[in-house]
Amino acid sequence: QCPLRRLLSCPGTVAADLRREEQSSGSAETGSEDRTPKKRFSEVQNERREQAQRTVLIHCPNKIDEKKFLKFLSQHGPINSHFFYESFGLYAVVEFCQKESVTSLQNITRTPSLGPEAAIPFKSRYFNLKLRNSSNQTSELSSIQCSNQSSPSSKKLYQLLCCAESVDDQLNTLLREFQLTEENTRLRYLTCSLIEDVAAAYFPDCAVRPFGSSVNSFGKLGCDLDMFLDLDEIGKFTAQKTSGNFLMEFQVKNVPSERVATQKILSVIGECLDQFGPGCVGVQKILNARCPLVRFSHQASGFQCDLTTNNRIALKSSELLYMYGALDSRVRALAFSVRCWARAHSLTSSIPGAWITNFSLTVMVIFFLQRRSPPILPTLDYLKTLADAEDKCIIEGYNCTFVRDLNRIKPSGNTETLELLLKEFFEYFGNFAFNKNSINIRQGKEQNKPESSPLHIQNPFETSLNVSKNVSQSQLQKFVDLARESAWILHQEGKDRPSPSSNQPWGLAALLLPSVANNVSLSKKKKKPASERIKNLLDSIKSSGAENSTATNGR
Ligand code: GTP
Ligand code: MG
Repeated sequence: QCPLRRLLSCPGTVAADLRREEQSSGSAETGSEDRTPKKRFSEVQNERREQAQRTVLIHCPNKIDEKKFLKFLSQHGPINSHFFYESFGLYAVVEFCQKESVTSLQNITRTPSLGPEAAIPFKSRYFNLKLRNSSNQTSELSSIQCSNQSSPSSKKLYQLLCCAESVDDQLNTLLREFQLTEENTRLRYLTCSLIEDVAAAYFPDCAVRPFGSSVNSFGKLGCDLDMFLDLDEIGKFTAQKTSGNFLMEFQVKNVPSERVATQKILSVIGECLDQFGPGCVGVQKILNARCPLVRFSHQASGFQCDLTTNNRIALKSSELLYMYGALDSRVRALAFSVRCWARAHSLTSSIPGAWITNFSLTVMVIFFLQRRSPPILPTLDYLKTLADAEDKCIIEGYNCTFVRDLNRIKPSGNTETLELLLKEFFEYFGNFAFNKNSINIRQGKEQNKPESSPLHIQNPFETSLNVSKNVSQSQLQKFVDLARESAWILHQEGKDRPSPSSNQPWGLAALLLPSVANNVSLSKKKKKPASERIKNLLDSIKSSGAENSTATNGR
């Protein structure tokens, strides 16, 4: 048995805590075997939003008596749940059972007087708790359990991966360690809800909804928080139908285009967050981008936020990815590993540029899983055929219809292991004819590229657009080289895996190490031959050993 694994199984150690954490957070979100009915995206969004509206965020003194704190708050009504976390201080997220409790708490809360400085009064749900007499409160304090909001260090991840039982176990471990926790998800919805309170000063019936990786089930701890300011509720589409000869319309200001309207709205909300938004710092208005946005940091939660409006298709894309992620437990495990692999080798970056994005990588994983035989994921066109009248959705003239009830989609009969899928993913894209073909999850097959960008991934809804138009030829080549190298490593390893006791990185751990990139850069001077050689070697192994792959397949 590997020494580290022995340590991990030993009770009472930090390592054992890691194991327990891992086991307890495991199956609920990842088990495709679980046959309980799955919730629709909109149900999850509505429930979480309502929960966030009953929740408050409290900056606490570092030393606090948890019991007394909860007793104090429950004067305003019963508490449903709470947790603490640390981020430049101690914070508590407290969910009341009823919304009225929040109002009651706000009623006994005062606006601070800050001496020479002046406060701009704003009754938010983000509070500061002070102790009247700190000495008698701190006497018998037991330490507060804080929920972790960040992803594991590379060292911890590396240890966990090296001690895993199989490559499949490694992929599932990586997923469990990086996926958003229940607490982190709550904090994301709460942050949107707090921003909604600010935006509601201008647009009383607006909603601020999270989208992107915070809600599409592919988010990693630490990912940004994409927010959508939804103004449709204000009556654009929801006004009651009336009969008779009279028709009432609101007097409104008209502007030359939707884009100008979006820019004006975001400009004023950005200003508002900057001037009055508690905890909102570093507000930047990026209004001339293709999709105008306001970017800021929400200090208390630590989230980097991007607020957009008039971006309903992106919300629909999030729903689609959520569906794909929920259909089979292998989807998220594979996508997380591919995304971590890409990050480890600087194929993706937090700075915008010629790199591939996480969104594009996820679409590539979905496409690859549609291409398996039998397919692991259905095509978007097939999901459209399952849709009923209520699922019908046209946004800005684009048909975004697909079935939204997950329980109506039959599970795949494909039983391939994650190990095989990871290896084949790298082989598939290591050999993909990027020069002539486009990736298309709507039809689940390659299409001729309609334009000459190095990488063409059709936008699933705005089908004339390429989601990876920004990717340069050299970045694509780096992706292909690394994919081939990684396929090769997994292939070699399958034959000759280092013994667990040797503490050698193996499987996914070996792929995430910089050595893979080093190998590629070492071979840079003669890049083509190295990459081509690996491709040819893999091809020859494949053609001579089909039985080998069936053996892995059947496991
Ligand atoms: P990370 O933030 O990297 O974890 O992933 P993300 O999926 O949240 O990506 P990002 O924050 O860049 O974008 C947020 C959402 O906007 C995505 O999930 C997509 O729904 C959408 N989006 C991002 N890039 C594109 C693009 O190039 N085209 C289209 N149509 N939508 C995009
Ligand atoms: Mg994002």
